[in-house]
Amino acid sequence: MKMFKNMVMLAALAMAAPLAAEETAADSNAAPAAPAAPAGAQEIAAGVCAGCHNPDGNSVIPMNPILAGQQAEYITKQLMDFKATETEPAKRNSPVMSSMVAALSQDDMKKLGEYYAQQKTVPSQVAADEKLLETGKILYHGGNIEHGVPACASCHGPNGSGIPPRYPGVAGQHAEYTLTQLNLFNTGDRSNDSNVMQKVVSRMSAQEKRAVSAYISTMR
Ligand code: HEC
Ligand code: HEC
Repeated sequence: MKMFKNMVMLAALAMAAPLAAEETAADSNAAPAAPAAPAGAQEIAAGVCAGCHNPDGNSVIPMNPILAGQQAEYITKQLMDFKATETEPAKRNSPVMSSMVAALSQDDMKKLGEYYAQQKTVPSQVAADEKLLETGKILYHGGNIEHGVPACASCHGPNGSGIPPRYPGVAGQHAEYTLTQLNLFNTGDRSNDSNVMQKVVSRMSAQEKRAVSAYISTMR
């Protein structure tokens, strides 16, 4: 696994150099255009990350999060949190992602955040149960006053696009990924949220978590 990862990294690095050179050559003739993807990020995304998140971050595998259109600061923070240092363990625990970020510099992580933020979201297309969606919608926008669950909308926005730089967008995310995260916050296996999300989910029932995850996947 480790050797495979190193080979993938090497392949990505080998590809990055010639591609970067071509881009510069093309740019010298081109008129000023829309902001280009940060140099290097696109190559890393296409070479190392695409297998699970697709080249533009629109993962079609429900377990792997959609990154396209997510806030740059949030993505950079997550990448940094996945990375263990010599003195400290990773703040966000994921064996898969920890090995993916091991070779990334802080600058790479910043550029990857900018790259994915610039991509257009293709939201989750997985169908969900109507009744479940209705329950999820009520909870997302109004919370559950009886049990002290705050409205998700108060931090993630009425349309789910989040509030930069701290509150990530959630709209259109795969329900399976969202539900997994809510459960990880609940067990404390994900704890890189300054105890904000952990407190929110501790008051939710299993049914509410499923319902709100389904509803979020349909938000546009
Ligand atoms: C082998 C599959 C795989 C590869 C390759 C991969 N990822 Fe991931 N990624 C995942 C999974 C699975 C998660 C969810 C982790 C969890 O919470 O348990 C994830 C989570 C993330 C997150 C957190 C998103 C969020 O909404 O919190 C970011 C950011 C991310 N990956 C970026 C990348 C980047 C950048 C690369 C390439 C350097 C990459 N990933 C390569 C599978 C992968
Ligand atoms: C008081 C503010 C607040 C409220 C209310 C809140 N959240 Fe969050 N949420 C956050 C913050 C902050 C993070 C980012 C944590 C981090 O930096 O990793 C987050 C992260 C998340 C994530 C992880 C996103 C990803 O891509 O991995 C999900 C899913 C989520 N929230 C869902 C919800 C749901 C569902 C509700 C309502 C039941 C809710 N949140 C209510 C602040 C809030």
